[in-house]
Amino acid sequence: MATIISVASGKGGVGKSIVAGNLGLVLARMGKRVVLVDLDVGGADLHIMFGLLHPPATLSDFLTRRVESLDTVAYPISTQSGLRLIPGTGDTLATANMPYAKKKRLIRHLQHMEADVLIVDVGAGTGYHALDFFLLADLHVLVATPDPTSVLDLYRFIKLAAIRRVLSHFLSNNPINASLAEGDFASVEEIFLASGKTDEAAQAIARQALEAFRPLLVLNRTSTRSKVNTLQLQKLLRQYVGGELTLLGEIPDDRAVEHSVRTYLPVVEAAPESPAARAFLGIAQQLVSHLLTEKTPVAE
Ligand SMILES: Nc1ncnc2c1ncn2[C@@H]1O[C@H](COP(=O)(O)OP(=O)(O)O)[C@@H](O)[C@H]1O
Ligand SMILES: [Mg+2]
Repeated sequence: MATIISVASGKGGVGKSIVAGNLGLVLARMGKRVVLVDLDVGGADLHIMFGLLHPPATLSDFLTRRVESLDTVAYPISTQSGLRLIPGTGDTLATANMPYAKKKRLIRHLQHMEADVLIVDVGAGTGYHALDFFLLADLHVLVATPDPTSVLDLYRFIKLAAIRRVLSHFLSNNPINASLAEGDFASVEEIFLASGKTDEAAQAIARQALEAFRPLLVLNRTSTRSKVNTLQLQKLLRQYVGGELTLLGEIPDDRAVEHSVRTYLPVVEAAPESPAARAFLGIAQQLVSHLLTEKTPVAE
């Protein structure tokens, strides 16, 4: 069964697709069978990065059952063996309005593809769609830039993801808690309070779910002038959200990345000696070690 890595961000335009595309390519070079999946409803453009400008069919065709198999819409990338890409489309309401059960079905289909790793670009923002796809993966990668608004949006995203994760554990463990589904919670603690003292078993399970939620952070576009106080961010998250954030690595702001976009090639291929390309190699190594040690089963 393929391991699913989701890539998300609080804010758009921070480099999610760049990260997903380059990591996918490097993992394929390492010999893994990789499928890149574009689930970014607002801005599906991963295929452009690989020069696949007019895919004949996309993920939408699978979701609306115009095609039967995901393999039909998984296009081999000619420059790298072992790498395929499932393009998304920006305007598909089918993905935007997909109910939870349908999302789980899609994830199950993805898991059963002939692949070792699936990298899913889930898009930006804190809609249920992005949060659910982010959480349904085995490993959760977040991308942010040192821009203060990006860091703030990252914090917000992690908090809302943690709330949704804990809430879904309560709901799946005890239908009596169904009233919680209507609640609008501002923190994980509020859910624990609302669930009352009666449901201690569910609370314990939810706390475990929270502890097991360990998103991996990629800082993109860093420079000597703009750094992120990662330690401070990790401390805030531990204190107010209850989750651990692990820094996977940093990618410097690098003109080679912008240039690579214009040549329809990921930077690791267009400019392998560039600082950004070298950073991607290091991050891919880190990711592989997390793949080996932290794979957790997808919640059913
Ligand atoms: N490390 C970087 N150095 C320089 N420019 C970058 C870097 N990462 C991303 N960019 C620029 O930002 C743009 C947006 O990146 P993209 O991955 O499409 O964002 P997202 O998917 O988060 O919306 C890219 O087209 C590129 O020009
Ligand atoms: Mg994108």
